[in-house]
Amino acid sequence: MGIQRVAVVGGGQMGGGVAELTAKAGLPTVIKEVSAEAAENSEAAIRRSLDRALERGKLDEAAHAAALANLTFTTDYADLADVDLVVEAVVESFDLKAEIFAALDGAVTSPDAVLASNTSSIPIIDIAMATGRPEQVIGLHFFNPAPVMKLVEVIPSVRTNESVTASMTAFATDVLGKVVVAAKDRAGFVVNMLLVPYLNAAMRMYADGHASAEDIDNGMKLGAAHPMGPLELSDMIGLDTMMLVAETLFAEYGDDFYLPPPLLRRMVAAGHLGRKTGRGFYDYG
Ligand SMILES: NC(=O)c1ccc[n+]([C@@H]2O[C@H](COP(=O)([O-])OP(=O)(O)OC[C@H]3O[C@@H](n4cnc5c(N)ncnc54)[C@H](O)[C@@H]3O)[C@@H](O)[C@H]2O)c1
Repeated sequence: MGIQRVAVVGGGQMGGGVAELTAKAGLPTVIKEVSAEAAENSEAAIRRSLDRALERGKLDEAAHAAALANLTFTTDYADLADVDLVVEAVVESFDLKAEIFAALDGAVTSPDAVLASNTSSIPIIDIAMATGRPEQVIGLHFFNPAPVMKLVEVIPSVRTNESVTASMTAFATDVLGKVVVAAKDRAGFVVNMLLVPYLNAAMRMYADGHASAEDIDNGMKLGAAHPMGPLELSDMIGLDTMMLVAETLFAEYGDDFYLPPPLLRRMVAAGHLGRKTGRGFYDYG
């Protein structure tokens, strides 16, 4: 396989989850954050998640300690020099991701290293072309929370080496225990292309006063057997991320159902981003 050391760029909700997965799989994992404070927050969140797994009996003491020992944190790209795989999980902004991939191109020394993005919607080829090695760049789209959700979308661009697609499919399946869906490099891939219009429709229903948030969510939980309703799921994803993903999909396809609803834009402007800020469609105290 050849993946011995992993880097995760952006240790937030998704990056922290991916790092937890690779650390639990026995791989030394370095998390690159934007500041020392962000790195501390990331470490605390991963530790809480590992502690919960220990309390629930999903990890024993030895596996908990081994996972923690596999994690290191940095703010310096130089510490990513010898990794075999990078998973980028910063905010859903093309400009930021392009800047980061250009920096990774300079920092990661092995020409065989794979540079992957966890983007929810941005075309992989656009990110790949920010590097001098687009054949080593691929989409590895984990779902939230990454340690729990079984799916990974593997998204090669038109420039990705077939060997990279094969090795990442095997890595996600055999090392991380995930189920892989192979997706073409179209904005939103498979899941978000279907999910975003549905979540947008729920927000429009709520904004129109069609039904309460609880009734919309209960409708889909109890009537369609979804584990979460669309508004609580949007709160979990993060309304800022939802808005950026919907904008990318609209830019790609031009269909109105991808457009972020006005209420979503107002909530993001107000800083009501869902669970991560304590307030979204629901109040989390
Ligand atoms: N939230 C979801 O449900 C979900 C699901 C799948 C994929 N994604 C995708 O994953 C990515 C991250 O989303 P998230 O929900 O984890 O966001 P988040 O806001 O929780 O985390 C982003 C992290 O990136 C860090 N960061 C910002 N600039 C950086 C830089 N220059 N260098 C290093 N770190 C930097 C931030 O400090 C933060 O910790 C996005 O592309 C998003 O579309 C999100």
